[in-house]
Amino acid sequence: MSAGRPDGGPVAASAGAAPVGDDLRVLREDDERVAPLMAEGWTVESESWGARLQLTDDAHLARLAARVEHVRAQGWRVVELGPEHADAIVALDALCAVDYPITPATPHDVPGVAELESSLAMAGWWAFGAFGPLGDLDAVTVLVPAEALVETLFTVTRRTVRGRGLATAVKAAAVVDLAARGHRMFGTGGAAVNIASLRANESLGYVLEPRWLSLRRP
Ligand SMILES: CC(C)(COP(=O)(O)OP(=O)(O)OC[C@H]1O[C@@H](n2cnc3c(N)ncnc32)[C@H](O)[C@@H]1OP(=O)(O)O)[C@@H](O)C(=O)NCCC(=O)NCCS
Repeated sequence: MSAGRPDGGPVAASAGAAPVGDDLRVLREDDERVAPLMAEGWTVESESWGARLQLTDDAHLARLAARVEHVRAQGWRVVELGPEHADAIVALDALCAVDYPITPATPHDVPGVAELESSLAMAGWWAFGAFGPLGDLDAVTVLVPAEALVETLFTVTRRTVRGRGLATAVKAAAVVDLAARGHRMFGTGGAAVNIASLRANESLGYVLEPRWLSLRRP
């Protein structure tokens, strides 16, 4: 995904507005402009969500650490990744690019290797990944600093090993590790149709914010 908005999540959740044209508006569901537009015949083309995780106690961190341990016990090595892993991250993301549910508020462009390498080395981005027993990078989450928040840029799991807790584990590892460095507030988001992503985030303690509606002119 481009460095648009974290986790494919609504670009709008952070920025307050997603890319729009004359025929498209991305607005929060509680925006006062929604009802008049719908009365004019605009329709909801897609929905997306943003969510926040505020760490408040050590018990929460312990629950997150348990999600990491769960996949470690199944043979995955969950670690922080660095610029030297940019190739592997991009290769995995490119393999899975077609699986991202794209909406106007949740774009995704596979990052370039050089761009990712320099962002991990110099721009303060972070990445956490899970390596399988054969050494393949099977899941990764990439995060970026965004003012007071740490935002998830994207998370992806190799198709053949989905549904085993890997996305949840790498996201949990990120929060645990970054909490140890003083971060307390995390943001993420995604397309409403991306149930796996939504569930992973909710199970980590992310709390949903009002949804974003992509409205199409009649
Ligand atoms: C979204 C994605 C990262 C999830 O990866 P994963 O490793 O399979 O996720 P997990 O195994 O940690 O599962 C997360 C939750 O989703 C649920 N889940 C997994 N696959 C699911 C599916 N196809 N349908 C519904 N729920 C699903 C799991 O049961 C789990 O919920 P639980 O904790 O309540 O049991 C993966 O599907 C993917 O790479 N998709 C393409 C890229 C993408 O859309 N990324 C997210 C936006 S950046």
